Amino acid sequence: MKILVFGASGLLGRHLVPELLAHGHRVGAPTHAEADITDGARMDELFSEPTDAVVNCAAIVNLDACENDPEGTGRVNRDAPLDLARRCHSAGAFFVQFSSDYIFRGDARRLHSEGDAAGPLSAYGRQKLALEKEIPGLCPRSLVLRLSWLYGRGGRTFMSYIPQILAEKPVLQIAAGKTGNCLWAQDAARWVGLLLEKGGTGPFNLANAGETSWEEFARGCLEQMRAAGIRTRCGEILETPYLELGTHGAKRPKHSALDLAKICKALPPGPRPWREALKDYLAELKSSSVLPAA
Ligand SMILES: NC(=O)c1ccc[n+]([C@@H]2O[C@H](COP(=O)([O-])OP(=O)(O)OC[C@H]3O[C@@H](n4cnc5c(N)ncnc54)[C@H](OP(=O)(O)O)[C@@H]3O)[C@@H](O)[C@H]2O)c1
Repeated sequence: MKILVFGASGLLGRHLVPELLAHGHRVGAPTHAEADITDGARMDELFSEPTDAVVNCAAIVNLDACENDPEGTGRVNRDAPLDLARRCHSAGAFFVQFSSDYIFRGDARRLHSEGDAAGPLSAYGRQKLALEKEIPGLCPRSLVLRLSWLYGRGGRTFMSYIPQILAEKPVLQIAAGKTGNCLWAQDAARWVGLLLEKGGTGPFNLANAGETSWEEFARGCLEQMRAAGIRTRCGEILETPYLELGTHGAKRPKHSALDLAKICKALPPGPRPWREALKDYLAELKSSSVLPAA
């Protein structure tokens, strides 16, 4: 397939492009500087070339930036992906867009399936929900993949940094009590590739299997780093109540675990457990000397 990936230098894009190339696809991977998805004239140029599929990894994922400027960030997170969906439909290309567990309100601790009622607490969540609602109508040959707590090498997300914090600082302070799923970017890339090749359409929850919490993820990291002979300086993980989060800036759902039954049924056995993915992430950080040996 000939695939165009936007946001190719972000966390997901950097993992996805090599994965697609390894599967024999021809991939166009413009960076933000090379192709701004809000630039209609540039999109006209890129869409003048035939393409089998477009994967949009471009987004503004900073929740507070979205809260402070819903209009400006909405052009990137809502208007441009809707425009890409229209363009893909006209061009006969398959479209893949990413959503987030932040479309949920998260009051109750339960699994959220693809069809569950949404109730976003933030501008970012509302932007993602608009995509979930409108893309299937604009481009029926599309996938909307709802991801959760993405982490990976070079990522600018809190979970991406946790191993380095544990390696360098004596204490890790973490907000406890927020439950959900995490997803290693390498696994996300693999599943995007599989779903593209299978040609599934519609909404899919996509995360590593097993509900977790930020503090459980951090403790799992510490255990696995010690077991893998990686140096850790951290002697204490200090939990502060999750309720203290979200009083300033954008609000996040407290409980947003995703039900993975649909993706497990479509591509059995479905995504692997999060601890297995974390083990491979730590091994990657160790082998590339991002994390020091003990
Ligand atoms: N990170 C998470 O925890 C998470 C969770 C759930 C869902 N998601 C979704 O997953 C997708 C990928 O996220 P990610 O974590 O890979 O994000 P990321 O690391 O922040 O990457 C986003 C990329 O988009 C680029 N970009 C921003 N505005 C653009 C524009 N107008 N035109 C073209 N490119 C633009 C950024 O470039 P610059 O940096 O140069 O601006 C960056 O390379 C997004 O849809 C995100 O909402 C992420």
